[in-house]
Amino acid sequence: MQNLNKQPQIYIDELYNTIEHHAKLYYEQDNPEISDSEYDELVRQLKKLEAEYPEYVRENFLTRGVGGQANKLFSKVTHAIPMLSLDNVFDFDELANFFNRLSKNQGDNGFTCEMKIDGLAISLIYEDGIFIQGATRGNGYEGEDVTENLRMIKNLPLELKNFPSGRVELRGEVLMTLDNFNALNQKREAAGEIKFANPRNAAAGTLRQLNKNIVAERNLSVFIYYLVDAQKYGLTKQFDVLKWLSEKNLPVQSAYSYCENLSDVEKFITHWQNERANLNYETDGVVIKLDDLTQWQNIGTTSHAPKWAAAFKYPPEEALTKLLDIKISVGRTGVLTPVAILEPVKISGSTVQRASLHNFDEIARKNIMLGDYVRVRKAAEIIPEIIAVDISKRTGGEKIFNMPELCPACNNKIIHVEGDTAYRCPNKNSCPAQLRESLKYFASRQCMNIKGLGDSLCDDLIKSHSIEKITDLYKLNIMNFTSLDRIGIKTAQKILDNIENSKSRPLSAFIAALGIPEIGINTAELLVNKFGTLENICAASLNEIMTIDGIGNIVAGNVFEFFRQPENLDMLEEFKYYGVPADNEFEDQNANKNSDLAGKIFVLTGALTFTRAEAESLIKNSGGKISESVSKKTNYLIAGDKPGSKLLKAQELGVTVLNEQEFINLLGGK
Ligand code: IVH
Repeated sequence: MQNLNKQPQIYIDELYNTIEHHAKLYYEQDNPEISDSEYDELVRQLKKLEAEYPEYVRENFLTRGVGGQANKLFSKVTHAIPMLSLDNVFDFDELANFFNRLSKNQGDNGFTCEMKIDGLAISLIYEDGIFIQGATRGNGYEGEDVTENLRMIKNLPLELKNFPSGRVELRGEVLMTLDNFNALNQKREAAGEIKFANPRNAAAGTLRQLNKNIVAERNLSVFIYYLVDAQKYGLTKQFDVLKWLSEKNLPVQSAYSYCENLSDVEKFITHWQNERANLNYETDGVVIKLDDLTQWQNIGTTSHAPKWAAAFKYPPEEALTKLLDIKISVGRTGVLTPVAILEPVKISGSTVQRASLHNFDEIARKNIMLGDYVRVRKAAEIIPEIIAVDISKRTGGEKIFNMPELCPACNNKIIHVEGDTAYRCPNKNSCPAQLRESLKYFASRQCMNIKGLGDSLCDDLIKSHSIEKITDLYKLNIMNFTSLDRIGIKTAQKILDNIENSKSRPLSAFIAALGIPEIGINTAELLVNKFGTLENICAASLNEIMTIDGIGNIVAGNVFEFFRQPENLDMLEEFKYYGVPADNEFEDQNANKNSDLAGKIFVLTGALTFTRAEAESLIKNSGGKISESVSKKTNYLIAGDKPGSKLLKAQELGVTVLNEQEFINLLGGK
């Protein structure tokens, strides 16, 4: 890729700009355009050229730093000890060079090898065993305070027993497990939202959420791998540090081993190259750390990475195959997504025949033609994607992909607004593909929870004209099912029962099911908490919606607009006619709850004998609300053992402070 026709200075300059552009997308916007390995390759090229042409080196360029800039929305935290990066090695030769460098420093014996977790680095501070602060790496020197979001991570202990007193700093990685990542993307797809490119971006995007409830719902995890100043606690080996951390109940990945020498390290790397497919989190390599902590100080660091460690990066799992066709799928909101149909090929144990193309711009950007040989990448359990075209394999018979003018499902003219990446089918009332996706979303677990309405049944009900709009679900009878192939009376009756039962779903689930753009169950709950009934939500002014904590102006606009459209109001009338939702009063849902507490705002601090999730559900079930920070609006601060600074703030503002027993009494001794 080195362009030798250009002046080296111009070429190096272009490379700096390209890397800067991609680093911004990756670190600051969680929205990369190229794969990690493509990025690594650019950095490698740059490093090579910098060595050749030191006169053109751009001082203070980010490759000499360690990541992105701190996000402006969270307050900044200065790391007492910089959070460094790791130098990469890409094959066993480069690994041997790392060992040679170490042996010059007499540090070539005894290593701890750990899987390199593909998440984002965090620093965690415990004071007397209580978690008090967590921060992202940011630029290595200054990160973002994400304490409140980290508190939502279930496997991160907020209090540690038998832990050293005073201030202890740990470092580790925040990640999203593959199970959670896949579930989240499915949900986003169903909600017509853009899917996350990979679990790392999903974790990064989640940790930067301003709404902690979303962080809690998305279920992040953390693994710790580093104890700052470990020798202070009598530890002298990295291997012992990991054991010690697990003994203290801190989450540590189990994929690590002690390796005596280079050959052991190579065995570890080879073993885990295949085995890592069985881990429920993404890894992109192995971190090799000298085991002896006293040598860490002797050997030292460069400005951006320790010299006593290296990251062996696995090559991404890729295969070359032929692009047979590009099909178009139509989403619930009418957005069209291109899907690559491939000649079946095996990648990391499974057969791949479809790959995501994200959007139509990507086809042009990657210069993809029908009939091309394409490099396809598949990371464990993640939707395969096309990395690049192998231009050398072109025969001249490849064909340009022409954007169709008509929707493949309903033949309506496709709409594309200049500047928007999305192409859309505007036929929201009768496009069968949009109707099928909307039906599936309406029936999904978090919405109306109607089991049994799979892809092909939805298709059949639409084809047979039993369903022409969503409300038709509630006028289905047994004949509509039994007239279809493959559906017996028993199954039909079960599905009809499920449809009937869905009428008693809570109002918030029904609001979410309506498919208002960007309104998921959380926002729906906020609306119901504020307005109580569907009629009140319909009648709410834009201003009233905008004042709800946790609802931004765009989302508020979507809600307001939705309830202004005559066809939506007709649809709601029809639902009402069928008795959907049966439970249209928020107050009704809380009728047997402690009415004194309805709408009261609670804040929690310190450790309680029940879990935070339990406390939250007790409050919610009593009609109360939970907030993360103390303000004048707070009604009660529940202070557990070792409360944090929230207690001081509550006392300053005159907020009622309750201990655990008083809290239980308030809830009516539940
Ligand atoms: S040790 C001073 N161990 O990789 C070096 N890092 O590319 C401290 N990472 O910033 C890092 N798994 O975010 C270490 N087992 C592991 C790791 C790990 C993932 C990340 C970490 C670091 C990045 C460097």
